[in-house]
Amino acid sequence: MRITTVDSVTYGVPDLVQAKRFWSDFGLTLEAHNDRLLRFSAMDASTVEVRLAHDPALPPAFEPGPGVRETTFGVETEADLDAIAAELAKDRHVGVDEKGTLHSVDPLGIPIAFRVSRCRAVSAPDPQFNVPGRTGRLNARGVRYESARPLEMTHVVYMVPDTRVAVDFYADRLGFRISDAYPGRGYFLRGGASNNHHNLFLLNPGGTGDKFGFHHLAFEVANIHELFGGGLNMTRKGWKTMLGPGRHPISSCYFWYFLNPCGGGAEYDFDSDVVDDDWVAGEFEQTPETFAEWCLAAGMEESLLYQGVQTGETIEGQT
Ligand SMILES: [Fe+2]
Repeated sequence: MRITTVDSVTYGVPDLVQAKRFWSDFGLTLEAHNDRLLRFSAMDASTVEVRLAHDPALPPAFEPGPGVRETTFGVETEADLDAIAAELAKDRHVGVDEKGTLHSVDPLGIPIAFRVSRCRAVSAPDPQFNVPGRTGRLNARGVRYESARPLEMTHVVYMVPDTRVAVDFYADRLGFRISDAYPGRGYFLRGGASNNHHNLFLLNPGGTGDKFGFHHLAFEVANIHELFGGGLNMTRKGWKTMLGPGRHPISSCYFWYFLNPCGGGAEYDFDSDVVDDDWVAGEFEQTPETFAEWCLAAGMEESLLYQGVQTGETIEGQT
């Protein structure tokens, strides 16, 4: 069961117009669209599919409002698909569509799907950073990003009422590995053949178990300049920050989350941990400090940039 990626995420929404604007501004490429469907891709060919909420092609909603209706994980081979189908069929329905994708649900009722991955390897351009002792960029100005073009879709996050049941299912039945954990509260899981720190994060926020649903979908960008360029572009286009920019101690990445009209958040990440069998999983207490080394709560809208500095105007009280 060599799960490699988050291959595709499908949303159900009341309004395709807002969805089209959001994901286009976020930097995904629009691959297909009609009056019922939008399909976007990241540079690695992972896809975001958006359908109208009442579309019979969608799995039933498992939470109110717009949100993710299904997450499709990529596997290496047809043999992996066969193994997953056999395992899940022991105690739940497994459907197969005309393209060979498996469809089922996890123990909490979250729809999951599996297909041979359609993602391709991508390489970020050389960042050409200048650091003492290593000049990556001589006699050349640093690149400035007007917007982002996410390279890889890396992880999906759900708030769940019972982490134990969910983690046992993903680890024992589907071969996910625990990269790091807030014991009893949150588990960072990667597919058995993935080098991403996590493809799936299951969180019981506050330990109360009273929140259930999709939280956010994350994408890796090429470098810190692109993360800030993408976030500033989203802000200029009027999208609201969910949280960030900031940095996670667990997985080490810089982040910037935006509220998504399709449901939950969409996250830019840069410099996430890449791991293999030698990675040593850690256990952490769930605190604000283990969530974010630092972060802005509401983006850059309150920053000097948005008070006139960008146009050279003088801010009142300053010279
Ligand atoms: Fe994330």
